[in-house]
This record gives sequence, structure tokens and C-alpha cells, in this order.
Amino acid sequence: MGPLLWPLPAVLLALAAQGTAAGAPTYPRRDAETGEWLACDKCPPGTFVQRPCGRDNPTTCGACPPRHYTQFWNYLERCRYCNVICGEHEEEARPCGATHNRACRCRPGFFAHAGFCLEHAPCPPGAGVVAPGTPSQNTQCQPCSPGTFSASSSSSERCQPHRNCTALGMAVNVPGSPFHDALCTECTGFPLGSLEPGAPGTEECLRAVVDFVAFQDISPRKLQRLQQALAGPGARSPPPPPPPPQREDRAAMRRRLWRQLTELREAQPGTLGARLLRALRAARLSGLERSVRERFLRTR
Ligand SMILES: *[C@@H]1O[C@H](CO)[C@@H](O)[C@H](O)[C@H]1NC(C)=O
Repeated sequence: MGPLLWPLPAVLLALAAQGTAAGAPTYPRRDAETGEWLACDKCPPGTFVQRPCGRDNPTTCGACPPRHYTQFWNYLERCRYCNVICGEHEEEARPCGATHNRACRCRPGFFAHAGFCLEHAPCPPGAGVVAPGTPSQNTQCQPCSPGTFSASSSSSERCQPHRNCTALGMAVNVPGSPFHDALCTECTGFPLGSLEPGAPGTEECLRAVVDFVAFQDISPRKLQRLQQALAGPGARSPPPPPPPPQREDRAAMRRRLWRQLTELREAQPGTLGARLLRALRAARLSGLERSVRERFLRTR
């Protein structure tokens, strides 16, 4: 055997033991028996030092057991435990592996902020989604531009264009706003006072009156007076506390008024007009009373 040949099996053994290419980084270690300083090979990621090197033996590396890892070349005596636990609003982005800890990310519908996962916020009525939320960013909202609307609070809906009444062959009853669609009607004015139930167009015009009144921008206090006046003197109840003039509340009050008017329309279609005009006067909504007269009491 030539002198060049004998180290080869040793090198191969060492490589087999640590399962890696040559050129491993080393660390200094004092041999326990001889007190001699040795340069021991470190172990690659995914393994740990099962047995340190000695004068005659290379480092023996062992694979990390389940739920343990080493990320770097190391001379650890045992692998690290995968100690990252995914929280309440998180999900596993990368499971625990021999070379890395478990990694978490926010669940769908949440985004990371200051170490927490926060739920994507909805865009309020009047604003639409420009960019849906991502794992790292909240929903991006923008107020609806002229000609578009968003009626609900949503984290996915964009602003929608208003319905085009003209293109649909109808008249605009209530113009669209950022908060609601345009309301169209085929009613072009009729004598509210001399209404004949069942006459052609009557139903359509009664609906139009209800929409027209319910969608006016009326202050909450006046809205309340109108609702009381419509309910009649027999149904007078102590006035509820003044509601905060927030958009949502006003939308809710408007829906209540719309329901009240619709119930009246369905119960007594013949008297809706007269009753509404009386109630508008009693609620001191003379401007609106005038508009209703001009719009719906035109004689043809
Ligand atoms: C509505 O439709 C009509 C007729 O199709 C068109 O002339 C008009 O520009 C449209 N209006 C809007 C606001 O799109």
C-alpha cells in the first residue's frame, strides 16, 4: 500500500458518518484523554453532534429526531425543539422540519400587524374595496366616486355604478348617492288625491312616492316626527332618545320609514297620498310636502 492510499478510507468513513461533502467547518475541542486541541468537524443543518471527534475518529453526526431541528452548521449536543406554536388567528405556513422551526402566518381574512393577526376591516357604506386584504395588509377602501355606490359594509365589494334609469327607459325617482343606487320609476306623475286603486300605473306610482319620501336626506329628528305623524295620534308613544346622526343609523331609520310607508301602501292604497301629505305637514316638513305635490300631484 502506498502512503497516499491509506487516508482515503478514513475520509470516506468520515463523510459517510456525517453524510456531507468535504470542507465542513470545524470547531476547536480539547481531547479529554490527551488534553490535545483538535479541530473537529461541525455537523450540517438537520443533524447534531452525536459523538465529538477524537484523535482517531471524526465527528459523528446524528439526524434530528421528530419535532426537532438545527438550522446551521453546529456542534450542538442535541437538536433544538420546534417551539413556535401557531396562535388563534394563525395557520402553519411551514411545518416543523429537520432544518427549520415551524413558521406561522395569519389565517385567511386576517393580516399581520405589530405581532398580531388582525381581521381585515370591511369598507363602510359609501366606500368600496380597492384592494382586498392580504396576509400582510388590511383592506384598502376608497370613497365611491361620483356615479357609483356601495350600500353595505363589506370587505370584498367594490363600488358599483348607479343604475342608468334613462337607458332602462324609465325616469329617475331618487338619484343615486355614494350610499345607495339610483331608484327608477315608470310613474310620471298622477293625481294622488283622486286615486283609483287598481288603475293602471297606480301601484307603480305609490311605490315611487314611498321610495321618494324614504330616500330624502331628512334629519333624524324630523324623520322621527314623520314616523310618529304617520303612525297617527292613536299610536303616540313616548319619543325614543335622539339617535346619533351616524350614517348607519340614518340608513336604519330610513329603512324603518320605508317599511312603515310600504305597510300603509299595502293596507290602504287609496289613502296613502292624503295621509302622507297630512303627516308631512304635521312633521313640519313643508319643503318635502311641496316636492311631493309638485312631483306626484301634477294634473295632466
Ligand atoms: C345613461 O344612458 C343614456 C342612454 O343610453 C346615455 O346617453 C347616458 O350617458 C347614460 N348616463 C350615464 C350616467 O351613464
